Amino acid sequence: MKNLVLLTAAVLMGITAFAQTTQLPQPNMQRKTLTVMETFQQRKSVREYSATPLSDQDLSDLLWAAQGQNRPDGHLTAPTAMNRQEISLYVFTAKGVSLYDPKSHSLKQVAEGDHRDMVASRQDFAKTAPVCLVTVGDFGKFGSINEYAAMVAVDAGIVTQNIDLFCAAAGLATVPRATMDVQGIRSLLGLGENQVPIMNNPVGYIK
Ligand SMILES: Cc1cc2nc3c(=O)[nH]c(=O)nc-3n(C[C@H](O)[C@H](O)[C@H](O)COP(=O)(O)O)c2cc1C
Repeated sequence: MKNLVLLTAAVLMGITAFAQTTQLPQPNMQRKTLTVMETFQQRKSVREYSATPLSDQDLSDLLWAAQGQNRPDGHLTAPTAMNRQEISLYVFTAKGVSLYDPKSHSLKQVAEGDHRDMVASRQDFAKTAPVCLVTVGDFGKFGSINEYAAMVAVDAGIVTQNIDLFCAAAGLATVPRATMDVQGIRSLLGLGENQVPIMNNPVGYIK
């Protein structure tokens, strides 16, 4: 009987853990977008969003463009200093917060509930976007090489610009932002002392 209870608990825990990981659809490499030159022409900060949730395919393509794995050796669409890959990308929606895993192109839920107000902070418009992406830099990935600290901000900026350019090319609305409740997000996500939220992008369809 005791074994049956333990087995049932283990199965339930397994199901819970499985339920918290969402496999994204394959990114659509044939997606119809603007050309590179048209994309630069269209890139601009947009601070109004339709409340319509992003489709799974749009979210998949957005995250892959931001910092998906684009080569079999594990390298990403966004370069990082010494390929330390120290930037994590968190996805805030009305349902919860998830961490994007470029290797498996999946989302792992790390918090339940709507925490977009922490990303918005004093700029209410940001929490009206169906998705808010937050880049977190891990300064610990450079060990004691202090002169590389600035590289973390540069690398977060590159992911941010990938998001900006994908949105411009695909007809989505976004703005790169530094404003957010950094300490609130750190404690919500249980970040370590070396992990710092750096930039965020509310993303939605054009209103
Ligand atoms: C590092 C950085 C931080 C920014 N932070 C914010 C912000 O907190 N809130 C905001 O509304 N816009 C923010 N912006 C967007 C800028 O205000 C915007 O890019 C600038 O006004 C130029 O407009 P454009 O993006 O349409 O060319 C930020 C941009 C950058 C590059």
